[in-house]
Amino acid sequence: MIGSLRILALVVATAFWAQPPFQTSTTPAGSGSTAPAPASNQNAGKSESPNTATMPPASNPAAQYTAENPAPAPLEGPVQPIPFSHKQHAGTLQLPCEFCHTPSRTGETVKIPQAAMCMQCHETMATNDPGVQKLASYAKDNKTIPWVRVYELPSFVSFSHKRHLKAGATCQQCHGPVAERVQLYQESDISMTGCMNCHRAKNASIGCNTCHMIDQ
Ligand code: HEC
Ligand code: HEC
Ligand code: HEC
Ligand code: HEC
Ligand code: HEC
Repeated sequence: MIGSLRILALVVATAFWAQPPFQTSTTPAGSGSTAPAPASNQNAGKSESPNTATMPPASNPAAQYTAENPAPAPLEGPVQPIPFSHKQHAGTLQLPCEFCHTPSRTGETVKIPQAAMCMQCHETMATNDPGVQKLASYAKDNKTIPWVRVYELPSFVSFSHKRHLKAGATCQQCHGPVAERVQLYQESDISMTGCMNCHRAKNASIGCNTCHMIDQ
């Protein structure tokens, strides 16, 4: 059984490596991810998209766009239940990433914050903003905010944040310039090729068992 699994894995691996080895990092990765691929521009025109805030309030806003006043480019990435901006919080306010993304109990993963944490500030700040009002209602009803995942590996891949951060990797290396983003999208490659490229460059192990527990 183990032997046939290994053969199957090698056959698939051969097929895998027969593909062009270097995907450009500009293509949002996500092939093979179990999460719904975050199609770019998926949010175009949806009312929850934060960029609609910059549109002129007219019955036919498109009519007002000219060469000098072009329509804002649609944001990439999944529309989140609350239009949360990293640019505002990690950029302008310079909150450290770890302020919100505390490690899980084991440290292997980092957490996405929930409403109670945000309300430390938003009990009193920007309380007229529709996004903050939505946030406050999640907090009041003690409901979980259903954040849509941007980076998510299939369950058969082992990955530890702790291990990589200890080895000196930075958030930006794997997630891009997050503090400049109004909305996050998968802009760096977390496919097998993406992992392998860095493992080769840093002399980290690339044996199949490093990331897949084939022999167990
Ligand atoms: C350390 C304080 C602080 C924390 C923690 C914080 N915010 Fe904010 N937030 C602010 C400030 C300051 C603004 C800007 C207010 C303004 O421009 O009037 C803001 C603005 C916002 C806005 C308005 C839209 C925008 O980007 O200007 C939303 C929505 C928002 N925050 C959501 C959240 C959510 C969700 C969380 C938790 C994940 C959170 N905030 C955590 C301080 C904070
Ligand atoms: C004020 C709180 C706050 C701060 C500060 C913050 N984040 Fe976030 N982060 C969030 C929230 C809320 C989400 C979920 C919504 C989203 O994806 O935009 C999130 C999502 C993410 C995700 C996507 C995770 C996934 O798979 O869905 C990454 C990556 C991330 N943050 C990285 C960072 C980095 C890097 C920094 C520092 C430069 C940072 N964050 C600072 C609140 C914060
Ligand atoms: C070596 C690459 C790498 C580095 C460095 C890295 N991440 Fe990640 N991050 C990932 C991958 C891959 C995932 C998806 C993990 C999964 O689905 O099991 C992820 C997931 C996340 C998530 C979602 C976690 C969840 O389970 O909901 C957040 C938030 C996040 N990263 C923030 C950060 C922050 C903040 C830093 C810097 C302190 C950071 N990451 C550093 C690769 C990295
Ligand atoms: C920025 C470079 C970089 C990226 C990108 C990266 N890694 Fe790593 N990874 C490393 C380094 C360096 C080590 C060695 C850390 C150590 O020695 O403790 C490592 C170690 C590991 C380990 C532990 C290896 C062991 O010997 O136990 C696993 C598992 C792993 N990485 C999985 C992944 C996966 C899965 C991805 C893609 C989603 C990934 N890595 C992306 C640099 C990277
Ligand atoms: C550094 C981490 C890492 C190493 C080493 C690694 N893989 Fe992967 N592998 C991944 C990740 C991440 C995925 C998730 C698929 C994706 O998104 O491309 C994956 C996916 C796969 C898949 C599923 C392919 C698909 O398209 O869904 C197979 C099969 C596989 N790996 C086999 C192997 C074999 C065989 C080896 C040894 C030659 C190996 N892997 C080494 C990280 C790794």
